[in-house]
Amino acid sequence: MTDSARRGPSPARWLRRALGRSPSVPAPPEASLPPIRVAAVGDLAEGHALVVDGMVNGTGRDIAVFRSGGRFYALDDICTHQYASLADGWIEDGWVQCPVHAARFSLATGEALRPPATVPERTHRVELRGDGIWLWPGTPAAAGSGSPTVDRD
Ligand code: FES
Repeated sequence: MTDSARRGPSPARWLRRALGRSPSVPAPPEASLPPIRVAAVGDLAEGHALVVDGMVNGTGRDIAVFRSGGRFYALDDICTHQYASLADGWIEDGWVQCPVHAARFSLATGEALRPPATVPERTHRVELRGDGIWLWPGTPAAAGSGSPTVDRD
């Protein structure tokens, strides 16, 4: 009898047998993180974006917060096509255009609106509280929403 036979199956093999399936079970959804104040409303001009570093927001991925049409939105910052910062893109009428290959994403839903990107961006909840822009990293934005409209610049 070999050494490994005496020890029995490896923990991974034992788990596979116990579960009756591969251990490649999808990861659970990211736990919602506490909200963070990312800027004052007046610090983010219409048609612009700021980036909240992944180490600061707790998700490990940079998140871009956009202002378009007086509303605020948040998406993962890196384009789902290749590697580009959407915060450096063109922002207009509720969408952002990637600065590298011109894919467009809906700011409200993250949907890829124009090729070459086909994978949507992940959205994050944004709210205005007082004069602050608050971000809930990892909490999806409510369908089709953004923050309430702000007329101030
Ligand atoms: S990197 Fe954004 S469209 Fe190609």
